[in-house]
Amino acid sequence: MATDALLERRYRVLGRNSPLFYEKPINLVRGEGVWVYDADGRRYLDAYNNVPHVGHCHPRVVAALSRQAGILNTHTRYLHEGVVAYAERLTATFDPSLSMAMFTCTGSEANELALRMIRECSGGMGVIGTAHAYHGNSAAVIQLGSVFTPPEKRGPYVRTVPVMDPYRDRAGRSDDELATAYADDVKRAIDSFAAAGVRFAGLLFCTSFSSEGLPDLPAGFMAKALAHVHAAGGYFIADEVQSGFGRFGSHMWGYQKLGVVPDLVTLGKPMGNGHPLAGVIARRDLVESFTSANMYFNTFAGNPVSAAVGTAVLDVLRDERLPENAATVGKYTLERLAALGSRYELIGDVRGAGLFFAVELVRDRRAKTPAADAARRVVNLMRDRGVLISRIGPGDNILKIRPPMPFSTENADLLVETLDGVLRDLDPAGKPRTND
Ligand SMILES: Cc1ncc(COP(=O)(O)O)c(C=O)c1O
Repeated sequence: MATDALLERRYRVLGRNSPLFYEKPINLVRGEGVWVYDADGRRYLDAYNNVPHVGHCHPRVVAALSRQAGILNTHTRYLHEGVVAYAERLTATFDPSLSMAMFTCTGSEANELALRMIRECSGGMGVIGTAHAYHGNSAAVIQLGSVFTPPEKRGPYVRTVPVMDPYRDRAGRSDDELATAYADDVKRAIDSFAAAGVRFAGLLFCTSFSSEGLPDLPAGFMAKALAHVHAAGGYFIADEVQSGFGRFGSHMWGYQKLGVVPDLVTLGKPMGNGHPLAGVIARRDLVESFTSANMYFNTFAGNPVSAAVGTAVLDVLRDERLPENAATVGKYTLERLAALGSRYELIGDVRGAGLFFAVELVRDRRAKTPAADAARRVVNLMRDRGVLISRIGPGDNILKIRPPMPFSTENADLLVETLDGVLRDLDPAGKPRTND
């Protein structure tokens, strides 16, 4: 009753189109580690959120935040040891060429700033993204975020390449052939700018292609694509908002897994474990060239409290060996999900790395027709049974599983067994089984 009343009040003041997860929205009041609790005291396993990266309300992050909030918080036009030390510590986790940091409060702002930088440094305006990405909500960035932006709203300075989908596109091709085909799409987009008289600025890709469905990319694709980008005088912005901070276990950053070094990297969500901390890490020459001609200042970004929080997140990642945990628990979870895949017709493909998984539901394994209704049903039934996941992909049919980093094998067992129970109650078409 209280939750229904709160929902009505929210509709009245925030509107019905302000996004809410699940057919029965959850009224969360508390979080701890990988668990969240609703107003009735019911516990849910969080297998979706990467914002509470080192765990909901991690005590070391909370302590760092409140300690610094009790000492000093200012904007960044004063010197502060903590801010400089955090920037040094953070940039040290990147390739040596990516040596400078600029702080923002959100991933959208980070991508907006990175776009401004590549446009300034290239002298061009044309930017390439994929046909089903999300990079944020600012006026420039939303034009690339084609999840919500129809082609006619992308404007003259954006081109999109089709979503890479090796599960469907493979057609007997080798990794190298498929990588070349995908890189050719990037080349075609660059050529189309030239044909329209638009100077090329660069490419913005999420390094896990998360909204696109977490495809298992053919090795070498990004190196081939970047050869075209750099030959045309453009820059590569790697969006690590979903992939970064050790999520893949094997690497701290998603671009490392792709085997390339970007010109700029954008960060967000996990960086402050829920505190609004985000930023751009970039090559020195790009930062210097941009800032010599433009002022960048952001009142709240990278303040002393944010720096204390960001430092605590890095401390916890290191001390609790969370990237290592992502590698071992991730492998275990992927194997268990793949075993489910072999038992249910509805599951067409299971893929992922570290603690980031995609379970693709299809109506027909041969035709690989996306089973969007089934995915929606599964996500809602999982929620009813106490496990939070979501869905992604152009067909809205891919279960997205991306838990906080302290996820354990016991948590993985609960996730997989709950999913098993949900799938058991659906027929091969993904509809609820009737009792007769
Ligand atoms: C890949 C990616 N980039 C950027 C953003 C935007 O970040 P924010 O919501 O902090 O502005 C998001 C948010 O979902 C994202 O998933």
